[in-house]
Amino acid sequence: MCGIVGYIGKKYNALNVLISGLERLEYRGYDSAGIAYVEGKTLKIEKEKGKISNLKSAIDVNIPSNLGIGHTRWATHGIASKINSHPHKVGKITIVHNGIIENYEDLKNELINNGVKFKSETDTEVACALLNKLYEDTNDMNETLCLFQKRVKGTYALGIICDDDYNTLYALKNKSPLIIAFGENENYIASDVPAILEFTNKYITLNDGEFAKITENKVTCYKDNEVINKKINEFEGSAESIEKNGYEHFMLKEIFEQPEVFKKTVFKYTENGIKSLIKIMPDFKKYKSIKIVACGSAMHAGIVGKSLIEEYGNIPVDVEIASEFRYKKLFIDKDTLVILVSQSGETADTLAALEIAKEKGCDTLGIINVLESSIARSSDIVLYTKAGSEIAVATTKAYSAQITLLSLIALNIACSKKLISEDEIKEILSEIKNLPIKIQSLLDKKDDYKEIAKKIYNKNNIFFIGRDIDYALCMEGSLKLKEISYINSQAYAAGELKHGTISLIEENTPVIAIVTNESISEKTISNIKEVKSRGADVVLVTTESLNKESDFYNEKIVIPNTHKLLQALLTVIPLQLLSYEIAKLRNCNIDKPKNLAKSVTVE
Ligand code: M6R
Repeated sequence: MCGIVGYIGKKYNALNVLISGLERLEYRGYDSAGIAYVEGKTLKIEKEKGKISNLKSAIDVNIPSNLGIGHTRWATHGIASKINSHPHKVGKITIVHNGIIENYEDLKNELINNGVKFKSETDTEVACALLNKLYEDTNDMNETLCLFQKRVKGTYALGIICDDDYNTLYALKNKSPLIIAFGENENYIASDVPAILEFTNKYITLNDGEFAKITENKVTCYKDNEVINKKINEFEGSAESIEKNGYEHFMLKEIFEQPEVFKKTVFKYTENGIKSLIKIMPDFKKYKSIKIVACGSAMHAGIVGKSLIEEYGNIPVDVEIASEFRYKKLFIDKDTLVILVSQSGETADTLAALEIAKEKGCDTLGIINVLESSIARSSDIVLYTKAGSEIAVATTKAYSAQITLLSLIALNIACSKKLISEDEIKEILSEIKNLPIKIQSLLDKKDDYKEIAKKIYNKNNIFFIGRDIDYALCMEGSLKLKEISYINSQAYAAGELKHGTISLIEENTPVIAIVTNESISEKTISNIKEVKSRGADVVLVTTESLNKESDFYNEKIVIPNTHKLLQALLTVIPLQLLSYEIAKLRNCNIDKPKNLAKSVTVE
């Protein structure tokens, strides 16, 4: 949610670094963009509403500059406009900001009483004015930043330039992500590593309450104005891994990466058969219950996980929406394991839920994709999904990697409690080996899903129905469709439809019906017949073993059989590709859907 980048050094032209960094960060917000850079002895600001490309065409990237900060915005306070976009400058201070200043109204009134005149509606301009006021009082940037931390409530990652010193860039962080990256006699700040990966892969992560003073050849980090040492990390992925590599969209590339992602995510846990799984995973036996807390697709992955962990591990599991969890009465204690699922590891609600769980004395386990992210660093235990950088706002490969780890947790508990036979373990391990080929076989049918998409892409309402895990997949399929194609869509537990929602089924209403679980397939088929007889056009998604000719569907997608523990990883593939093809036919901005941002770092 908002992306920031900054550069100091002589190796590159700051404007080039800023624009290329912003292009990589655009998935974090694309309402407007801006840069501040020092040309000669003057600080200049350029901003444009809309995409980075608008900003890029409005500036001359060849203007020589050794210092600059840039921002791509996802509006929170004030509409998307040139005036509200960052950077903001007040007096001698110029900033870019990611986060929300919660007490900005009180601070604004105080500053207005002190004679400050505001131009924008943003909380960021208030933060900037406060920094300027504190700097006027102290004439010392370190002291200014320490005082700022005491006055401000909320979340912020800030890149700051002070007019009195164009040889220094400042960075400050509280609950919004910020890294500092190291080149040769040049240094960077950014919201995440991919933003600067074409220049360097060495970086440190600032923790909450820390700030940094950055010159072209020195980075000094502080906490409470005391110098602190930080360990330098090296990012594993290459610059190519964050390119489209010939695919039309990042989303498509990421969908097609799923066979590899699956292999990478399971490898460590199964390389020596079940022994490695038991050895590497935590001991889940000691917990009486599990809560899975997450948002959006990560929460949908959690619902699949709940079903599998309850069935195979025989432990009660609740799935909670993080934004609800954080404000409700909780019945959790040291006997409850709280699992936080997050691709970015920065989702504000999930991070807050983690803190609450820790306060309640629970052990916390993060299932996280981004290394060293806030949730990863704060969780007691972390299991990393190995999905690599996910750029498309709509998650695909990270979601399936989350399900992969949750399935392995279910298997681990079943094995350690001896709830599963040796033969079944063997079957699962063999299916794990076969799964990438089966995923690929579904990817290879992309054109078939396109034909189905052609029949339904111009509809206004599309329903998804299923039971148990299939219902969880309906939620994900429906969310994918909504977020990238803007078609209104609802996911319903198949048996629940007749209690009201069936009134919305009309002649030719598309209903995507998922039937993969043999034990309840007849029940779901009865529900499908109920909608079919009311005029629905049914797209049946079913498995090879349940596949039979019948007249209760119009279109059919058949997925390979696998062990139940892994079935969701196959079922989701056509759903992802169907949404993709529908969105493409509707000419939607697939990688950057309207109103959304990849990493939701605000409440
Ligand atoms: O980074 P996280 O996994 O914590 O993000 C959670 C949701 O914001 C995310 O899954 C969102 O729902 C996606 N846009 C769905 O595609």
